Amino acid sequence: MNIEYKDQKDIPCIELYKLFLSVGWADEASTSQWMLDNFNIAFINSTFVFSAWENGHLIGCIRALSDMHFRSVIYDLAVLPEYQHKGIGTELVRMCINKCKDSEWLVATDMAEGFYRKLGFTENTDHFLTIPCKWFKQNS
Ligand SMILES: CC(C)(COP(=O)(O)OP(=O)(O)OC[C@H]1O[C@@H](n2cnc3c(N)ncnc32)[C@H](O)[C@@H]1OP(=O)(O)O)[C@@H](O)C(=O)NCCC(=O)NCCS
Repeated sequence: MNIEYKDQKDIPCIELYKLFLSVGWADEASTSQWMLDNFNIAFINSTFVFSAWENGHLIGCIRALSDMHFRSVIYDLAVLPEYQHKGIGTELVRMCINKCKDSEWLVATDMAEGFYRKLGFTENTDHFLTIPCKWFKQNS
C-alpha cells in the first residue's frame, strides 16, 4: 500500500460520494443532482479536513469543526471497506487531534464506539439538546 495523506478541504465531490456510498451514508435513489454537485460542501466549510488517498482515489476522510482552542467536534470519518483495519481511521483521527491537542474532542456516533474508545474517547456526561438538521431523515 502506498497511502498518501492530505490536508485539504476541496475534495472532489465524486470521490466523496463514492466513499460515502461504500459505507452506506449515501444512496443513489435519494441523492439529488444538487447534492451530487455539492457533496463536499460540509468539508469545504469545516475547520479542517484530512483525507487518505491511494493511486489518485479517496480511501478515507475526516472533518472537524473547531474553535482551535477549547472545543472540537469530529464528523464524517469514513474508510473504504476494503481498506479498513489497516490503521487509516486511527491515523485520520490522530491528525485531527494533533491540530488542537488541548481541546475537548467530541464525536457523536453509535456506529464505531469501540473504535473511538480504543483511541481514548470516553462517555461524556453532558446532556445535549438539538435542533435536527432539515436535510437528513431522523431515526424514529
Ligand atoms: C470506523 C472506521 C472509520 C474505522 O476505520 P479503520 O481504518 O478500519 O480503523 P483502524 O484500522 O484504525 O482500527 C483500529 C481499531 O479500531 C477498532 N475498530 C475499527 N472499526 C471499528 C468499528 N466499526 N467498530 C468498533 N471498533 C472498530 C478495531 O479494534 C481496530 O483494530 P483491528 O483492526 O485490530 O480490529 C471504519 O470502520 C469506517 O469507515 N466505518 C464506517 C463509517 C463509520 O462508522 N464511521 C464512524 C462514525 S463517525
